[in-house]
Amino acid sequence: MHGSTEAAAVDVGSLVLCPEVDPATPHRVHRRLYTDPAVFAAEMDAIFGRTWVYVGHESEIPEPGAFTSTLIGRTPVILTRTDAGEIAVLLNRCTHRAATVCQERRGQNRFFRCPYHGWSFRPDGTLVGFTYADGYDDPDVSADDFTLGRPPRVASYRGFVFASLAADGPSLTEHLGNAAAYIDLLVDLSPSGRLVVGAPGESRYSYPGNWKIQSENGVDGYHANFVHLAFLEGAAPDNKALRMFAGTSPCRSVDLGHGHALLDQRPVMADPFERRAAATPQGRAHRAALEERLGAERAREVIRTSGGLGFNLLVYPNLLFIQYHVRVVQPVAVDRTEVVLFPILFEGDGTLESDELALGLNAERLRGHEGFYGPAGGGVPGDLEMFRRVQEGLAVEQVEWLSFERGRTRESREPDGSRVGHMTDEGPQRSFYRRWLAEMAG
Ligand code: FES
Ligand SMILES: [Fe+2]
Repeated sequence: MHGSTEAAAVDVGSLVLCPEVDPATPHRVHRRLYTDPAVFAAEMDAIFGRTWVYVGHESEIPEPGAFTSTLIGRTPVILTRTDAGEIAVLLNRCTHRAATVCQERRGQNRFFRCPYHGWSFRPDGTLVGFTYADGYDDPDVSADDFTLGRPPRVASYRGFVFASLAADGPSLTEHLGNAAAYIDLLVDLSPSGRLVVGAPGESRYSYPGNWKIQSENGVDGYHANFVHLAFLEGAAPDNKALRMFAGTSPCRSVDLGHGHALLDQRPVMADPFERRAAATPQGRAHRAALEERLGAERAREVIRTSGGLGFNLLVYPNLLFIQYHVRVVQPVAVDRTEVVLFPILFEGDGTLESDELALGLNAERLRGHEGFYGPAGGGVPGDLEMFRRVQEGLAVEQVEWLSFERGRTRESREPDGSRVGHMTDEGPQRSFYRRWLAEMAG
């Protein structure tokens, strides 16, 4: 269903350079990846039209009729819960004359009522009936024929819901591959094992630049000590934060395969996380709750990771788990991108003790989130300025290539196929472009 007419117009081979020893992995990409509308159109088709794309978290739609609206590439969709309690993803396109039936970002209602001619659809997408029904007495026309469309595949991993616009392809579990274990670490950190994502609110920003700049940046350990120097200097005692991103850092970057990648901060941060958890009543209660649910060994591993504080994770193509939030990169045009940040909070198990613990941990998480990633935080404005400058510099046509060669010859292979490099190496970006090339080349 996804014609490759647009993709065919793009000669992908001319857009990347790969080293002879690893011809599937670009280490340079052409400026047209960020500036050419034909490349952008081809990406919407070959990548966002095919692969698994994150559409929301189950906690955003706790009850029948609850919904959120989002995009898969440029395709508007609605994540909703049906009257039968099932998760559904609907194409946000009226089956009458194409208006979007949902404009709100999130909410709860019994019907999606198209504003144009009043057709109403149930949360499962079925049409309640025609407005002014007497004009539809043609026996060949039935309301049953006008159910809202759905992406052919929807699946969820530990509460995170993904959809694919392609009828076939790898399963979600196959797609996530080595990235799944890191999502497990994030979820397991919740004292109850349950997360609340998105429902408490979100923050958004946009920038005049290509979407891939943000996907690259979320797992870029090279820039932090330059762009975020002032913030990192004051962020933690003993310059721990600066040490993490220094050329001498013991931390790693990991190319997880399938385009996914990780910055692993644990070599510097795991001991402090564990000490911090032992130092306060709240931290001790947290660890005790995890030990009860997961056993001592796993609880320790989870505490020493402390969710996204222990790593940055990119799930190809446009989903990031960073610190205390989920970040979704939404391509708008070749030089325009919107980004949405959803804090990841914990849900208690309903007992006073557990709910209070979740409340205390959530307050800490939200303040931490705002400090670096909020609208006035210490991190986001600097990154946005760099994204803008990259796009500005790309106007120079005389220099064609962007370089992602850093650390290529010093990365090592793990038994699970992942490639490990230094924190400041560009293995994560090469991982991204290896998958990008494979998808764009069909
Ligand atoms: S376009 Fe939706 S009712 Fe006409
Ligand atoms: Fe940054």
